[in-house]
Amino acid sequence: MSFNRSVKIAPSILSADFADFGREIQAIEAQGADWLHVDVMDNHFVPNLTFGPPAVKAFRKHVKTVMDVHLMIAPVDPSIEAYAEAGADILTAHVEASPHLHRTLQAIRANGMKAGVALNPATPAEAVSHVLDLCDLVCVMTVNPGFGGQKFIDMTAKIRTLRQMIGDREVHIEIDGGVDPETAPLVRQAGADVLVAGSAVFRGGSVDAPDAYGRNISAIRSAASD
Ligand code: DX5
Ligand code: ZN
Repeated sequence: MSFNRSVKIAPSILSADFADFGREIQAIEAQGADWLHVDVMDNHFVPNLTFGPPAVKAFRKHVKTVMDVHLMIAPVDPSIEAYAEAGADILTAHVEASPHLHRTLQAIRANGMKAGVALNPATPAEAVSHVLDLCDLVCVMTVNPGFGGQKFIDMTAKIRTLRQMIGDREVHIEIDGGVDPETAPLVRQAGADVLVAGSAVFRGGSVDAPDAYGRNISAIRSAASD
């Protein structure tokens, strides 16, 4: 995984058919996804429940790109090893879920993964200012985490601040929530390089009609590349 700041589209399988993850992952990658975004929710840190390490391990067999695992769980530390064993390339924890964030990020890297940190809409950029050297990715939430299909919350000021704080460190800025061809250019211009999109990628398609996935991915990519 070499670092660059080109636009990367990371479809979230939260919007996939939960009874057909293997074929959904294959379809989305064949249609041009750069990364695969995997939303882990625990019905405690967020009010929704998705899947855990055994399911993520099963997804891994189908992922040829980059498996980007977004943990919306608390606590985080007891699960880090299990997600490493499941094959996560990037493991992202929320600032708000990790009282000892420095230790959490160290543990993620010590387990051989890239370390990400996510910020809820109410959390300022400054919350990560002392851990940027331990991060490979900062995820700016543009919805309150828990569900797909929510309305985009404008966080462009926060993205700009983070982009300045990061400077020339090799740290991705990822945007998660409500990304579509209308909002993608705003976050790209502010400094984002990884665009997570669930509903805007999966809408209108299925594993048996995956062309729509490809059209949706291209529409987001070209909107962000202007
Ligand atoms: C929200 C998740 C997102 C979600 C994005 O808690 O972290 O990854 O799937 O879905 P859309 O793109 O539909 O807002
Ligand atoms: Zn996510």
